[in-house]
Amino acid sequence: MELFSEERSAHVVAESFAGTADPRLRDVLTALVRHLHAFVRETELTEEEWCAGIDFLTRTGQKCDAARQEFVLLSDVLGVSMLVETINHRSGGTSTESTVLGPFHMVESPPRELGENIALDSKGEPCLVTGQVKGPDGEPLAGALVDVWQANADGFYDVQQPGVQPELNLRGLFTSDEDGRFWFRTIVPRYCPIPDDGPVGELLAATGRHPYRPAHMHFIVTAPGYRPVTTHLFVDDSPYLDSDAVFGVKESLIRRFALVDHEARAAEAGLPNPFRTVHFDVALLRAAHAGGSLD
Ligand code: BEZ
Repeated sequence: MELFSEERSAHVVAESFAGTADPRLRDVLTALVRHLHAFVRETELTEEEWCAGIDFLTRTGQKCDAARQEFVLLSDVLGVSMLVETINHRSGGTSTESTVLGPFHMVESPPRELGENIALDSKGEPCLVTGQVKGPDGEPLAGALVDVWQANADGFYDVQQPGVQPELNLRGLFTSDEDGRFWFRTIVPRYCPIPDDGPVGELLAATGRHPYRPAHMHFIVTAPGYRPVTTHLFVDDSPYLDSDAVFGVKESLIRRFALVDHEARAAEAGLPNPFRTVHFDVALLRAAHAGGSLD
């Protein structure tokens, strides 16, 4: 084996992976070492900085438990989650764009009837959400599952405030009707902070970054024979659309939540007057595309 030298360090370490049985694992490890060594060389990392980095990663691991994944959060604020997501879900412009799952889909959404109100804490601006699930040729997808969850009017998810918010507040699993349509009642979401009481919060503070995400609703939409999409619906007048802490905003996912001041329409929607409304169509690719790159 070639002996270690500053100039050939990455090559020497990569050679040690020659016996890796899985070729993909060997390629990924080789690329990782090449980039890590280039990073250390470029920054001329000091021993103190290396120690601080190890300490940061150690504390990141220590912050993780069944309900908190600080490493995913780190990946989120470094834009890595969005890059992986974007590379793996190229839509070719023909389907609804995807974005990060986020850490708050940790409980199963309760099945609900179309039109039901998912806002169980009676706070916030009432809102009617309507939409249609379609395939790539515009065919309506009956029986599609539309899984929805969002933060409340204070910017927190139910699982972040047990005992404060009702269980399963602002969550629902809807089934689209024979025309692929879905609708439900909720409240306009508010911008919300990502968990910033750990090492990731320290990183944000040290770099002068805020922890906020713009107001959004999460969706996972699935239909047999079609590729599922994990996405968001963003509120067009929300703060932080141009500085999302996890880089999740895509232009195509921003919608206006129009104000409706009309007693009869409010009564028809089962909401107080005035209310807000938004329409969000979701287009899915056929499953044959799953795993394939479209560009
Ligand atoms: C969220 O959607 O609230 C979220 C997404 C990624 C990281 C943290 C929070």
